Amino acid sequence: MGNKPIETEEEVDRNSFDFISVIGKGGFGKVWKVRYKKNFQEFAMKEMSKALVIEKNCLSSILYERDLLSNFRHPFIINMIFSFQDNDNLYLVMNLVTGGDMRYQLTKNHTFPENQSKFLIACLVLGIEAIHANDIIHRDIKPENLVLDSKGYLKITDFGIAKKKDNQNLSENSGTPGYMAPEVMNYQNHSFTADYYAIGIICYELMMGVRPYTGENKNVIKEKILAKQVMIKAHEIPNGWSKEAADFINNLIQRKPTSRLGCKGINQIKQHSWFEDINWKDLYNMKIEAPFIPLEEDNYDVEYCNKEDVIDSSMREKLEKIKSSNEYINGFKNYTYFNFFEQSNLIKEFINPHKIYEETNKEIIKPINNENLNDINTQNHKKIKIPELSPECRELIKYNLFGTNISKLN
Ligand SMILES: Nc1ncnc2c1ncn2[C@@H]1O[C@H](COP(=O)(O)OP(=O)(O)OP(=O)(O)O)[C@@H](O)[C@H]1O
Ligand SMILES: [Mg+2]
Repeated sequence: MGNKPIETEEEVDRNSFDFISVIGKGGFGKVWKVRYKKNFQEFAMKEMSKALVIEKNCLSSILYERDLLSNFRHPFIINMIFSFQDNDNLYLVMNLVTGGDMRYQLTKNHTFPENQSKFLIACLVLGIEAIHANDIIHRDIKPENLVLDSKGYLKITDFGIAKKKDNQNLSENSGTPGYMAPEVMNYQNHSFTADYYAIGIICYELMMGVRPYTGENKNVIKEKILAKQVMIKAHEIPNGWSKEAADFINNLIQRKPTSRLGCKGINQIKQHSWFEDINWKDLYNMKIEAPFIPLEEDNYDVEYCNKEDVIDSSMREKLEKIKSSNEYINGFKNYTYFNFFEQSNLIKEFINPHKIYEETNKEIIKPINNENLNDINTQNHKKIKIPELSPECRELIKYNLFGTNISKLN
């Protein structure tokens, strides 16, 4: 944790991207598949209406989401590349994953067999472990927020309501009812075990096809949770699923957080007999072939994503008014973020000396220094434009291209 935000308003804005299609829908706007014009790389871009953020009283959590995403670097957590803003919207540019979210795949596939479920849940456990290691509770673990990459690996996204673990301040009621732990529903202090409950609910859904406690609203679900502790009995285990899986789920969906698997630390979860055949190190290094590979197609509901939300006139008026508030004018000042480490990787790909060497008919490339970083003319007269860079980034690229160990600079 701890990268410094770098001001980049001049360097990255909406016009730096081609908008290809809408691939998701969020609470404050659309998620787009975009192409960065400078190197043609594709990204996911979450667009959020600033006025809606203020109207829904979510300013601090949206700023916190940006903060968290810019600091996590983990194979099973979505990476943020940069964030910027214009008068109306905030933009989060993230790595694009193309396998669809788990909800989409669940609706399409109906159920994942045990080996596929175990693989996905194991990725989820490692992602959650990293989040908790930073003292953060995600609080919105659900199939919609778990996206699959083209190789079938799972990544956690949407830190919209994540929170630093804090014994004083955790009595608020956030999350999605079907996956919300009972202690969260009851406005009690909650901790990492609230995320473990959600893992249990998802795993139950993967096994049984429905959630253990269902209902049309939070109160109905709450009543069902209060009425009885759901347990998968031996005779209810579907064909092809093991009793270890049922035991794993039964221990995670415990209503009492102190009886829940993981209450003594996440190793309790990793060491459960269901995961006996999981090599955690190989999984982290993505050396295991995923048992389910998403099809190479549009893995999202095109009709749903493109449906415009209707805003009635009174709401439109309210949002317009918000635009002159102090919160709107001053609240988003620190949102813009430019990760020069990521940027240097983008540039590296673009001006990779070996690539240029090949492209330019084996011309020997002279060392690139600070003075000619902005414009490089290759032998075939292809002009490569390098974006304006921060001094740190220039330094990094210079050393990088000269083969100096980057870690020395960190
Ligand atoms: N990096 C990504 N690559 C591909 N698809 C993504 C990515 N990030 C999000 N999506 C898709 O967009 C949907 C909405 O994104 P997200 O969950 O971040 O928004 P949200 O639910 O509105 O968040 P918030 O709670 O902050 O409002 C996800 O469910 C997922 O299908
Ligand atoms: Mg979401």
